[in-house]
Amino acid sequence: MIVTSDRVHLPGDLNVSRLICGLWQIADIEKGAGPLDAERAADALEAYVEAGFDTFDMADHYGSAELVAGRLLARHADRERRPVALTKWCPEPGPMTEDVVRRGVQERLHRLGVGRVDLLQLHWWSFDHPAWLDALHALQTLRDEGLIGAIGVTNFDAAHLALALADGIAVATNQVSFSLIDRRAAGGLSELCARSGVRLLAYGTLCGGFLSETWLGRLEPGAMPDWSRAKYKRFIDAAGGWGAFQQVLAAAAAVAGRHGVSVSNVATRWVLDHASVAAAIVGARITESEHRADNRRVFSLALDAEDRARLDAAFAATCPIAGDCGDEYRRPPYLTASGDLSHHLAAIPGLYRAEPVPGRPGRSRVASGSVWEPLAGYSRAVRVGDHICVSGTTATHGAQRCVAPGDAGAQATYILDKIAAAIAALGGSMEDVIRTRIYLRDISAWEPAARAHGRVFGSVMPANTMLQVAGLIGDYEVEIEAEAQLGRS
Ligand SMILES: NC(=O)c1ccc[n+]([C@@H]2O[C@H](COP(=O)([O-])OP(=O)(O)OC[C@H]3O[C@@H](n4cnc5c(N)ncnc54)[C@H](OP(=O)(O)O)[C@@H]3O)[C@@H](O)[C@H]2O)c1
Repeated sequence: MIVTSDRVHLPGDLNVSRLICGLWQIADIEKGAGPLDAERAADALEAYVEAGFDTFDMADHYGSAELVAGRLLARHADRERRPVALTKWCPEPGPMTEDVVRRGVQERLHRLGVGRVDLLQLHWWSFDHPAWLDALHALQTLRDEGLIGAIGVTNFDAAHLALALADGIAVATNQVSFSLIDRRAAGGLSELCARSGVRLLAYGTLCGGFLSETWLGRLEPGAMPDWSRAKYKRFIDAAGGWGAFQQVLAAAAAVAGRHGVSVSNVATRWVLDHASVAAAIVGARITESEHRADNRRVFSLALDAEDRARLDAAFAATCPIAGDCGDEYRRPPYLTASGDLSHHLAAIPGLYRAEPVPGRPGRSRVASGSVWEPLAGYSRAVRVGDHICVSGTTATHGAQRCVAPGDAGAQATYILDKIAAAIAALGGSMEDVIRTRIYLRDISAWEPAARAHGRVFGSVMPANTMLQVAGLIGDYEVEIEAEAQLGRS
């Protein structure tokens, strides 16, 4: 019997299943055995389509996932409604010219064998490198040309998603980790979604399968052979460890028992019940195991206040995973695993390069390419011994463009990335910052600027001054300068 699952509409005329079939596991299956037989693997996807799960999530680096999905799409080419293929592009940080972006998208089109990518999700390794904004603007051009249905991002925190929106990018979705164990997405990101209409695509909802009866009451496992569980065991450790996890699992099992469903159903339903969440992506080891019948039951489950209270009580035993969504890819502790995005780059290329100052031993400087640096005679940042001074920095993108016009919070986010890149080029980090000054054109915008500063320096706590000035040159709302003292322990 063909059953229709719950659906949700997304921009780009996309009609997707609220339970999306995730194909990261293909890369794991293929890592020892080599590429799957694409036709046989497409047969396996067909079974998902027949069960109502006709939306698939993949990426450029998920082994042959795009090729397998391409076979499936070809089989459905003549039908009125074909399956939906969401993919990701994860370029190495570097200049994102229109050409580079077009080639990235064309490769997706070629591998999928389609004329339009339904949803193209951008992952970016390090926000210190601002070319992600160029990539998104170029994707928007390609969307206007009809090569992309809608633009998504993945692993973006609330601040950078807000910056993208303030810079005029029509982001439809943000794909992030969201589960009973990793509840970061329920915070600022969900608030931004409510304000902006961006929807979340949640992954890791089952913690790689840990959120199931199989692990209830079990002793803590050692090293996990599969990438997925190796990754989510790190999340469990970061959320308070195996004991705290077992308390959440026991609460989910009690809720499941009340409703006659599985622990996985409860975990998925809890995520889907957040207004910000459009859909949950559940990974599938196609050709090896399948949980379709069980996962379908999520659509007949409604959690009530008693269920939610029971889960909330169990959350109290855990500690919130630190930071915001996507931090696990960008800063320690890296909660990723070989085989997902993290093993792609041995080192993330820096934005700036330090140069020695001629005739001044122990002094080095960084130029950020502003036309005014040579004309007015200044550096983005200068290091003397262990001390770094960063010039008053504005949200100038490339040679001249002002990012996120009129939005002090978004501009402050952009500026702080630029400051971080300058300090990193000179051998320091934002942890070394001891002094900041924030200059505002309009003091009524103090709060978003202060919040952006707090997001970066909440644990560093440099001495800070915030001032309204009579005017800033150009269309800028805010300018920030910083000083860092490199630690010598
Ligand atoms: N954007 C990103 O950075 C990112 C990162 C990670 C994942 N993703 C996407 O999200 C998808 C899902 O995330 P994930 O695979 O990491 O984690 P997940 O969905 O939490 O875990 C998937 C695993 O859970 C088990 N499972 C599924 N349904 C079950 C059920 N009803 N009962 C018991 N176990 C069940 C399966 O394991 P067994 O088959 O071993 O039983 C499956 O491989 C990925 O495939 C990928 O498409 C994106």
